[in-house]
Order: sequence, then C-alpha cells, then structure tokens
Amino acid sequence: MTNSPTDVHPAWLPPAALRPVGARRVHVAGDGPLVATVRAEVAAATTAHGGALVDDPAAADLVLTVDPALDGADAFVVGRRDGVTTVRAGGDAGLLHALHHVVRQGEAAFGADHEDERHAPVEPVRMLDHWDNMTVHPVMGQVERGYAGGSIFYADGKVRHDLSRVEAYARLLGSVGINAVGLNNVNVHATEARLLTDHLDGVVRLAAAFRPHGVRVYLSVSFAAPMTVGGLPSSDPLDPDVQAWWADAAARVYAAVPDFGGFVVKADSEGQPGPFAYGRDHADGANLLARALAPFGGTVFWRAFVYDHHQDWRDRSTDRARAAYDHFAPLDGRFDDNVVLQVKYGPMDFQTREPVSPVIAAMPRTRLAVELQVTQEYTGQQRHAVWLGPQWSQILRFGLWGDGGRTVADVAAGAGAGTGAEGAGAAGTGAARTGGIVAVSNVGDDPFWTGHPLAQANLYTFARLAWDPSADPVTLLDEWIGLTFPDAAAPVRDTLHGILDDSWRTYEDYTAPLGVGFMVRPGHHYGPDVDGYEYTPWGTYHFADRDGIGVDRTRATGTGYTGQYPAPWREVYEDVATCPDELLLFFHHVPWSHVLHSGVSVAQHVYDTHWAGAERTGSNAAAWTALADEVPDDLHARVTERLAEQVRSAHEWRDQLCTYVFRHSGIPDARGRRIY
Ligand code: GCU
Repeated sequence: MTNSPTDVHPAWLPPAALRPVGARRVHVAGDGPLVATVRAEVAAATTAHGGALVDDPAAADLVLTVDPALDGADAFVVGRRDGVTTVRAGGDAGLLHALHHVVRQGEAAFGADHEDERHAPVEPVRMLDHWDNMTVHPVMGQVERGYAGGSIFYADGKVRHDLSRVEAYARLLGSVGINAVGLNNVNVHATEARLLTDHLDGVVRLAAAFRPHGVRVYLSVSFAAPMTVGGLPSSDPLDPDVQAWWADAAARVYAAVPDFGGFVVKADSEGQPGPFAYGRDHADGANLLARALAPFGGTVFWRAFVYDHHQDWRDRSTDRARAAYDHFAPLDGRFDDNVVLQVKYGPMDFQTREPVSPVIAAMPRTRLAVELQVTQEYTGQQRHAVWLGPQWSQILRFGLWGDGGRTVADVAAGAGAGTGAEGAGAAGTGAARTGGIVAVSNVGDDPFWTGHPLAQANLYTFARLAWDPSADPVTLLDEWIGLTFPDAAAPVRDTLHGILDDSWRTYEDYTAPLGVGFMVRPGHHYGPDVDGYEYTPWGTYHFADRDGIGVDRTRATGTGYTGQYPAPWREVYEDVATCPDELLLFFHHVPWSHVLHSGVSVAQHVYDTHWAGAERTGSNAAAWTALADEVPDDLHARVTERLAEQVRSAHEWRDQLCTYVFRHSGIPDARGRRIY
C-alpha cells in the first residue's frame, strides 16, 4: 500500500476515522473555548466527507450541545431518538470528549435508537509527563528515556518556533481525554530551570497550543531554583526569602499563563536537590511550593521516588523497595490540600513486573496520584512491540485491601466511603481526595510519534484507562486498531491482536523472571546483563548463587518489606506457599529447584518461558510480513525493522538467561534444548 502524503503519521485520528461524523449533518451549540475546537473539528470532517455543519438542530443527524444543568464539566450524556444522535455535555470539555466518543463509535453511533447513557472520567487528572530537555545531552539524548527522537517542544535550547507538531499532539491528547501535560524532565538542568523565568514566553506559547484541546501545562521545577535562578544563599523551605521567591515566581507564571496547572517535583532523588539539605522533610518541601501556587489554584505533584542511590551492595539491611514508604508514610496528613503525592506503581522502578507500591495503601489523608511509564524504559525501549494495557489494567484494578475493597484506581480518584481517619486499616475505606493518574510520555519528533508505530497503542490505552480504569484493555486496543487502520482488511486487526494482546507476557517470558527485575545493561537499560547491577550502588540486586535466587523481603528472615502492606497482602506475600509465582523472586530467595505453583522448578521455568517467549517473537515477525500490502509502506517497513530487532534481542535474552541459570544451578533442561 502506498504512503499517505503527510510527513507526520496521523495516529488514531486519520481523516477516515472521522468519516462517519463527517458524512452527517451536525449541529454544535454552546459556549466555551473548546466549543470552537469541536466546531472546527466537525467543519473539517464534514468538508472532507460530504456532510455539513448546520444551524438548525431540527435538520441535524447529530446534535452536540453544552448543557450547564448537567453535572460535571467533563461529563456528557449521549442518546439516540428518532434517528438523531443527541449529546448534552456539562461543559465545553465534556463536549470535546463527547465528539470523540461519537468518533470512536463510528457508524454504530448512528444505528438503533437508545436511551441516554452518561459518561464521565473516573480520574480527575489524566496527565502525561514529558522528560524533555531543551538541550541535547551527549549520552541521554534530548528526551531522558526517550525512544522516539528529539523533543517536539524544544530545539536549540529554546521552545520551538514552529509549534504545529505540538498542536497536532494536543489534538490527539484532547481526543482521548488527557487534560494535563508536564513540559520538562523531572531531572531539571540549568537551562530548563529557567523555563520559570527567561523562557516563560515559550511556556506561554506551549500553553496556547494545548489550551484549545483542554490540556493544562505543568513545569518540573528544581528545588534549588531560589539559589540557581534567584541568586539567594539558600533554598531552605522555612526561610522567608525562599518563600517569597517562590511566591513571586508563581505569580509571574500565572500572570502569563492564567490556567497554568502547577509544578512537578523530584526532590532528594538521584542527585536532585531537596529539603533534606536543610534538615527539613518532604512535607516542608512540598508545602513551600504549594503555598506559592495556592493563591492561583495550582497544584504540586510531588514525587515519592526517593531512595538511597549510593547503597553498598554488601549491606543486606538496606532494601530500596522499602524507601518510599519509609520516607512518606510517616508524613501522612501533613501535606497541604494542593499537594498530590505522585507514587510510582511499584516500589522499585517501572519494572516489567513489580508488586503494587504499598505507599498507595498507606496514606489515607494524602492526595495520591499513581505514576505509570508509557515510555518503554524497561520494556523494550520502543524497539520491542510491548503493549502495556494489561499491566496497567492489572495495577489500576488491584484491590489494595484484598478483592472487593478499594482499588489503586479508587485511591487515585479519591473514591470511597469514610473519613480516612481510620488509617490504612483492614477495610481500606478511607476517603482520600482526588489525585489522578500520571504517566511518562513515549512521544518524540519521530514521524510515527513513538519510534515503534505500534507503541502508539500504549499512549492511546493509557489515556483511555485513565478515563475509565475498569475498561477492558483488549477492547481499548481494538478501538485503537479500528481508528488507526480504518480501511484495513480483516487480517490487519487479527494480526495486530496476535502480536500485541499477550506482548507484555511475552516480554516478561524472555527477560528477568518471576518478578526479580532488572538484569538489564546498566545505564541505558537495554538488553540482557544478568549481573550488570549486582555489585552497583543502585539497590537492584537478585542475589543469585549456586543454590538459588531472589530477594528475601519477608518479616521473618528478610528486609521486612512485606510488613508495609495491609492485610491480606502482608500475609500472602510473606509466605512462599501463597506468594504468586510471578512475584516469587521479588519477595523470596528460593533454591533453583523450588517448585512453583505451576508445577515446574524455578530453573525449568526460566528455560520454558525463555524459549517460548523468544519463539513467539519470531512468529509475530512472520505474521507481520504477511501484511505488506495492507498497511502503508513506511509503517510496514518501520515495524518490520523493529520486530527483527525484537527477535534478535529476545534470543540474546533467552540464551544468556538459560546459560546463566544452568551454570549456576547445574540443573539441565528437562526438554534437552541447547544451552550454551
Ligand atoms: C528512572 C530512570 C531515570 C529517571 C527516574 C525518575 O530511574 O532511569 O532516568 O530520572 O527513573 O523517575 O525520576
């Protein structure tokens, strides 16, 4: 199939995806800046596909109206009566969501009559953090952990002159309900610290590009900015001059960007400055910034990713997994109302498989946001086709106090009964206030946005799960396929499901086993290196020897980490007999011969899963080859190249892991496959 003439891939909004709406007579009514966006979207679609934007609602097939009487500015109801599809939205943002709901439904939106259905987002804040730098780092590139080229926001140390790419991105995000974007890396370097000051005009322009699509902008700030930018002698949060500096900085930002969202902060983490330098704690630090933002309605997203990155591997008493809870749980109740504590989903660092962070269950009097990683730092770096929908769905639906209790998504949404004063006790009914769902973006200036074209599915699925964490991820993937490849023949849909549905599990199969994590090459984190992190200061060890492997995090004999969970998990994880296989080596050190619930030994599990996973990458590549005539040539070629690298890399992982396990355990593969 030949290519489309555009330089940049349209992702899930190619013109044909808007055909069902564009072929109709559409009436749009209401006030608010986003109504203009809806009208422009409909005008373009109807011009392209033969419909019309009509003034008379009685002459329309689709009526889109803002109705302030409806509860919730983001919410909408959609029904169909007498052959007319009618939408009422609580505000202009809801109208934009409603339009794209109808787009996603396609022809089905104009089928049989039905009663009104209400739609509203579960999570109030649905945010993407860009780890973009203004300048290019010689090793890290421009986007930290970015696998899709340079930044779409910045070039040559400034906000880009031409923001048309950002406008296209904002449209994509608005269409799936993302409403917040962090504009720069959480590791704030010297140039980026001045986004608050010298580069504020650029922030104004970026905010203007996002605003018509309902997306507010946030800045990552450096805790040391009063010194490095302001020239003060200190950044002590209790120093009145420091407080005045932040108040002034916030006032200047809001004078320029009245709907500015607020700050994202990484403090006392991996070398970033923070309140510890002054003997203050993280509540002091977060509240300093919160008080500067409060007069303007801004929010601080304060990250809980705080741990000792100068650990001594000889010291078995320190456990990095414990760090966030140990630092933050004692501070519950001390954060101001406009502080949201942003917690990575697991206690370590965005691994393929980790238990859910116990911090999420431990702070009922704190607003919490859960942080996911759409950029595939540890999951194949957008060279491997790894669709993370099932991972995120599992995390968001995880019952922190057992099945039937509140989930991770509930805590982030602030949903639940009670006052929260009862603490993270048995019932887990404490009502936190709303935080939201945040993820690190996977987008760069690559023509396909995400390097691997199929990684667009991750961006899409993240956004849709943030809107409704209970949605079935495979249904969302199907939605993405239908929008992105609207005219493709049936085999495209089947092949994409075949490649992506189980791709997270496949990746887990050929990489670090049973929740132990890492085993990646240090620094860039791509490819296998079983002992690469074993004697480093990073606290990411697996402790393999001739007898066994895994980290003892039990209360009985290990680091005591299991004690950070509420019941039932503190008991389930503590006991090797009840700990789920997929997390066994995260919680326990076991012999290579230990028999899993699945019935095979740890050693045999490694052999079986690594062979199966690597083999699946080969069959995926072959299935994709058969689609050469069904999808655009450039996209086909890019995916082909990435799948070939995935096959190579998966076999490298397989051979290193199997050899490592055999050499350490001496246990042969029961199926006699080749081990080097
Ligand atoms: C990981 C990642 C870093 C990043 C950090 C963070 O450690 O490798 O590049 O800065 O997470 O989330 O702050």
